[in-house]
Amino acid sequence: MVLELRAEEITAIIRQEIESYKEELKMESVGTVLQVGDCIARIYGLDQCKASELLEFPHGVYGIALNLEEDTVGAILLGDASEIKEGMTVKCTGQVISVPVGDALVGRVVNALGEPIDGKGPILADKRRPIEGRAPNVVQRQPVKEPLQTGIKAIDSMIPIGRGQRELIIGDRQTGKTAICIDTIINQRSEYEAGNPVYCIYVAIGQKQSTVLGVMETLQKYGAMDYTTIVAATASDPAPMQYIAPFSGCAMGEEFRDTGRHALVIYDDLWKHAVAYRQVSLLLRRPPGREAFPGDIFNLHSRLLERAAKLSNELGGGSLTALPIVETQAGDFSAYIPTNVISITDGQIYLESDLFYAGIRPAVNAGLSVSRVGGNAQNKAMKKVAGSLRLDLAQYRELAAFTKFGSELDKATQAQLNRGERLLEILKQPQYRPMPVEQQVSIIYIANQGYLDDVPVNRVKDFEQGFLQYLKEKYSRVLEQFRVSKELTAEVSNTLNEAVVEFKKNFR
Ligand SMILES: Nc1ncnc2c1ncn2[C@@H]1O[C@H](COP(=O)(O)OP(=O)(O)O)[C@@H](O)[C@H]1O
Ligand SMILES: [Mg+2]
Repeated sequence: MVLELRAEEITAIIRQEIESYKEELKMESVGTVLQVGDCIARIYGLDQCKASELLEFPHGVYGIALNLEEDTVGAILLGDASEIKEGMTVKCTGQVISVPVGDALVGRVVNALGEPIDGKGPILADKRRPIEGRAPNVVQRQPVKEPLQTGIKAIDSMIPIGRGQRELIIGDRQTGKTAICIDTIINQRSEYEAGNPVYCIYVAIGQKQSTVLGVMETLQKYGAMDYTTIVAATASDPAPMQYIAPFSGCAMGEEFRDTGRHALVIYDDLWKHAVAYRQVSLLLRRPPGREAFPGDIFNLHSRLLERAAKLSNELGGGSLTALPIVETQAGDFSAYIPTNVISITDGQIYLESDLFYAGIRPAVNAGLSVSRVGGNAQNKAMKKVAGSLRLDLAQYRELAAFTKFGSELDKATQAQLNRGERLLEILKQPQYRPMPVEQQVSIIYIANQGYLDDVPVNRVKDFEQGFLQYLKEKYSRVLEQFRVSKELTAEVSNTLNEAVVEFKKNFR
């Protein structure tokens, strides 16, 4: 006969055993491992344990108490759990889990616990921060007012992002979601050189190690690791590490925010994060809800994203901008996780496979994408040229769908189609070529003014490149002035008009 013991029966037996010790030792904060497996431990005896408390196991392994039940505590194990066996003792630490923060993290690649994994030696941080922090309240904040330039024309013009904002980047796999974030990080190089860096934290969740390595090499190549930290919890890391990674990255960003500086944190991606959390929750026997996700996944993601903020001037005016990425499955934006995250961000950038394969890259669907607060932060010059851009593109989309049926077109319609085609061409942008905002404005301005209407569509890109080069060579003074003032003054627009006429004479 096979004798099977249920966890409750074991609990009862061990309780009797332990109660007798406890009387002698007065140890409320020490427990015993009852069951262990799949990075989950069930512990008996931690009567004083609080939710989310950090637990100390033997062999230097830590855990987090997630389920507080009547007799037992369910915990997730961080790090190498293979040495943990039944019957081992567990201690409460009275703390929540924390990670090292501050300047020592810049340029490093760390795991979800903030431990270095780049072979560049220990991280000598003099400060740690709990990975779960309270989000700033309403009084501690102020509306976003400075732009966070992505360097991507389609985004900076039509879906502008402000410092302190949360903007979701959503789309199927292979639509350029990661690419947009990497370009945004690269584009912060100029801020870094100007001595006012936007510190970037790229959190990789559940990705292949080789992919994360690729990101690191790219950032290094473009000199972007000088102000960037990578937090990596890859697909080969246990689910608990993937679960805490975004919180760790957020804590690192908060440190910059709270010291009057600017930070940008990217969560790549929250779909995989939700899957990791679903895994640990199911193992902890939490009741599954919609799509088998635990009911508190919404709360978890809002807690994370609410920590992005633009702080009030009294608190130093620092900011933490968040760009969460959510990968959709076959374009299903209405699945549980996408709709959740859409509702707790200040807008979203929709990327579409169809556009991507049609060569429109970045594959931003301008009709569906919005930024609800970034407009306030957009600089004046861009605001001026971008308004009509959005309208022209919207009209173009409508007409283009309509004229597919091939009817005779009147002149005005044909002109609108012409303009739209060229604007679309202008908004295409290769990877790793973020563009300074004054150049973006210049090219959109001349397109709006109709200077491109008689340039063949397949030459628009050459025209753009040549014209910007020409501007840099011949009108560097005005361009520089424009860069500083960020206003499309009469002088600037006159210069642009003059320059484009000149340039056109020799363009063929
Ligand atoms: N603007 C772009 N122009 C050309 N290729 C791009 C562009 N953006 C992304 N790509 C390419 O598309 C592929 C998918 O991009 P990636 O950012 O990895 O997608 P995702 O993160 O959505 O899965 C990559 O090979 C990348 O190099
Ligand atoms: Mg990606």
